[in-house]
Amino acid sequence: MTSVFPSPTQIEHAAKLLRAGKLVAFPTETVYGLGADATNEDAVQAIFAVKGRPSNNPLIVHVATFEDLVRCTDLSKAHNPELLRSRLEALRPLWPGPLSVIVPKAPQICRAVSAGGSTVALRIPRHPAALRLITACGCPLAAPSANPSTYISPTTAQHVRDSLGDAVADIIDGGPCEVGIESTVLSLVGDEPTILRPGAITAHELSQILHCPVRVADTTVSDAKQPLLSPGLMAKHYAPRTPVRLLSTLDPSLCQGRMIGAIVFSKNTPLPVAPKVCVVLSESRALEEVAAKLFAALRELDAAGVDLILVDTCEPIGLGAAIMDRLLRATRD
Ligand code: TXA
Ligand code: MG
Repeated sequence: MTSVFPSPTQIEHAAKLLRAGKLVAFPTETVYGLGADATNEDAVQAIFAVKGRPSNNPLIVHVATFEDLVRCTDLSKAHNPELLRSRLEALRPLWPGPLSVIVPKAPQICRAVSAGGSTVALRIPRHPAALRLITACGCPLAAPSANPSTYISPTTAQHVRDSLGDAVADIIDGGPCEVGIESTVLSLVGDEPTILRPGAITAHELSQILHCPVRVADTTVSDAKQPLLSPGLMAKHYAPRTPVRLLSTLDPSLCQGRMIGAIVFSKNTPLPVAPKVCVVLSESRALEEVAAKLFAALRELDAAGVDLILVDTCEPIGLGAAIMDRLLRATRD
């Protein structure tokens, strides 16, 4: 049984399953995660099996406190331990929140989490159910988005049920995710902090808080070209089974004879054809609202029996950069 405010009994039940090496899906403020004890090799291997995820694609580890985040970091392996510590301290006010940092991995985090590498991605999620669950488990939780590899990330418990269903021991329902787009991934491994995946916490915000330039890696290039940067940042990702095209670069002849579904950011967006189904994400093109509703809309249209999904676009600035990153990946066939 699930509810939007999981009871202490539900949390304790889920924590018990996790401690026993089972997989539990749980809500975060970004998307739902597929959780396992990050110190248990077999449990983490099960995540890869259930998602059909390539074993070279490392996972994000979720902790409940800043102290635990530092405990999961091996500062002694850092190129400059003092600089890394001061950067983590500077970022502290952003947690709990949609930011993952890549740092040298402490030994208690098992090998499979980091795909055999020496670094680990860490974050403190902001959803109260996630924080209560991690605290009840007493261990860090490895959790990728709770979707089959390359499909759209889930932003409701029903999305998780639809695509992973029986493969998970339990699903904690915490309502629809507030942010709706996965966390910003910031590498603190080199001297220059580098964003590997744009998210709700922007390069500008990070550069202000860190008092240094923050580089944004070109994450739309294929992983074959950048094997070391972030193996998971594959060009094809977040993709519905139905082809997706962006309105800004659409060749209208593509629409001829096709059943069209459209996702627009406000009702004023002009469309080249009358769609069979149209989802309007915001009254006023508010990007927070667009981000929060985008993945649910992509899933809805993927299930609507249309031949082609047309999607609105925005300036790739601030949160718009994260939205356009996901949309560009969704258009790759
Ligand atoms: O918002 C989120 O981050 C969600 C929620 C559940 O927390 N999680 C999530 O996990 O999106 P996942 O596994 O779907 O995406 C993690 C991304 C992948 O692109 C992966 O390659 C990258 O982070 N990543 C993880 N560990 C890394 C590492 N050590 N080095 C480089 N990239 C890493
Ligand atoms: Mg994912």
